[in-house]
Amino acid sequence: MIDVDSIRETEWLFKSKNFLCYGRLPSTQDRAKELIKNGACKPGHVIIADEQYSGRGRFGSPWRSEKGASLTFSIIVENVPLLPMRAALSVLETLLDKCRISAEIRWPNDIVVKGKKLCGILVETYKQLAVVGVGLNVNETSFSLKGATSIRLETGKLFSREPILSYFLQTFEKTMKIDGVMELVRPKLSLINSLIEFETEYGIIRGEFLDLGDEGEILVRTESGIIKGFAPGEVKNVRRTYSMRTYSP
Ligand code: BTN
Repeated sequence: MIDVDSIRETEWLFKSKNFLCYGRLPSTQDRAKELIKNGACKPGHVIIADEQYSGRGRFGSPWRSEKGASLTFSIIVENVPLLPMRAALSVLETLLDKCRISAEIRWPNDIVVKGKKLCGILVETYKQLAVVGVGLNVNETSFSLKGATSIRLETGKLFSREPILSYFLQTFEKTMKIDGVMELVRPKLSLINSLIEFETEYGIIRGEFLDLGDEGEILVRTESGIIKGFAPGEVKNVRRTYSMRTYSP
């Protein structure tokens, strides 16, 4: 069980009276939205589940977590620009400082180590507020899905979840207020300057991942040679590819 008393409150936003810890929940994301709807939650609330049995990721994909091993929580904040990137940077800093893991961002919302997914981030807006959901694999020793990893598998060590969450909250509070988010994100992008492919409603797009735009969109030189921007909501399953039709510049 998560020990709510050992989660440290932050200086101004995340206060311990607003930490809501549940033994078992379908989804912290959905509970956060219910609480907002009932007027029972405001910015600064943190909803944490020791066990989440119906977690979800982008486009409604299932998010699996293990009771007692995963860190699954949702925080409610004002809807400031570039929240997914701010959350991703905060996860990276937490992993580096608390666990000595150097991770990267697989745009838009995956945190990966050597290509394996360690954490997923889901940012949703609801009634003018934002709900930032984080699923971090902490002490899992195996996964049914290929391509996943945990802090334990990467370091060989067991970690308590509470200090990791405390550190994330402190870092996120700070990262919420910084300028120049994109400059910090760029060097952390796992696939920048690589050939990638992804799914859109118009089919699979292949191209070279050139940069991120100011709104956090991906800028891609597609197979036809055109440079096009794609927002996170338009794009599914971004992955590396090794071949692409050539174009004449
Ligand atoms: C993704 O990889 O697509 C995002 C996964 C986000 C999972 C977290 S776990 C806490 C919160 N509750 C949910 O149901 N989802 C998010």
